[in-house]
Amino acid sequence: MRRRPLIAGNWKMNKTPQETQEFIESYLAASSEHRDCDVLLIPPFTSLDRASRLLSGTNLLLGAQDVHSAASGAYTGAISVGMLKACGCVFVLAGHSERRHVFGDSDDAVNDKLKAILGNDLFPILCVGETLEEREGERTSSVLNQQLAGGLKDISEQALESIVIAYEPVWAIGTGKTATPEQAQATIAYVRHWIEIHFSRQASDAMRILYGGSVKPSNARSLQNQPDIDGALIGGASLDPDSFAQIIDEAMSPSGEDKVC
Ligand code: PGA
Repeated sequence: MRRRPLIAGNWKMNKTPQETQEFIESYLAASSEHRDCDVLLIPPFTSLDRASRLLSGTNLLLGAQDVHSAASGAYTGAISVGMLKACGCVFVLAGHSERRHVFGDSDDAVNDKLKAILGNDLFPILCVGETLEEREGERTSSVLNQQLAGGLKDISEQALESIVIAYEPVWAIGTGKTATPEQAQATIAYVRHWIEIHFSRQASDAMRILYGGSVKPSNARSLQNQPDIDGALIGGASLDPDSFAQIIDEAMSPSGEDKVC
């Protein structure tokens, strides 16, 4: 089965609305159009409205980094799915490792967020991944089992069609240490197999699973060439429009070795 690649830039806590505008203008001027992949920008909340206006009429998609599971109410500092939808978001991250490890999001909280996102007809990107200690302790599969079972609790196979999974080893995020293409492939194949066991072969064949963790122009192609990797979730290297455009060009170029950039 051919799955449509998704390449996403997660800006984390970076860029004002003005800087967002400058990025989008220069990205649109410099990038080549790739009709066979989805490109997604995930700016901070305060830039969503501006980004949405600038992206209208383009084929770039807009997403948010996090959400609260409640529809409204006394949750100071929080943002609801309805607010994100009104700002033009299509995708929403749930369970990014920084949310889990810095802000303490539990698997239950991630599951609640997923359900709220699906309930508003938006598309969740469920992030999973192990820490270095967990990998070295050979606990990668048990961590993934727990994050997948917790995050996807009570999700129907039909709803699963709207979900994207991002495998992001915590030890590779923002560290410059990328998982090798073989490591990323092996772990993502494990995640795909998990979906097959807990849902169906059809669901696992259709599931888009991204790799994230120090993706850059020089490694994007060999990661994307792996059979189970359907795109990338990019942090640091997505902040610069040229580097983001180069990653997309590399990932979408025909199979071959990485170009040395
Ligand atoms: P990085 O971040 O590309 O800077 O490692 C990836 C992520 O956190 O999604």
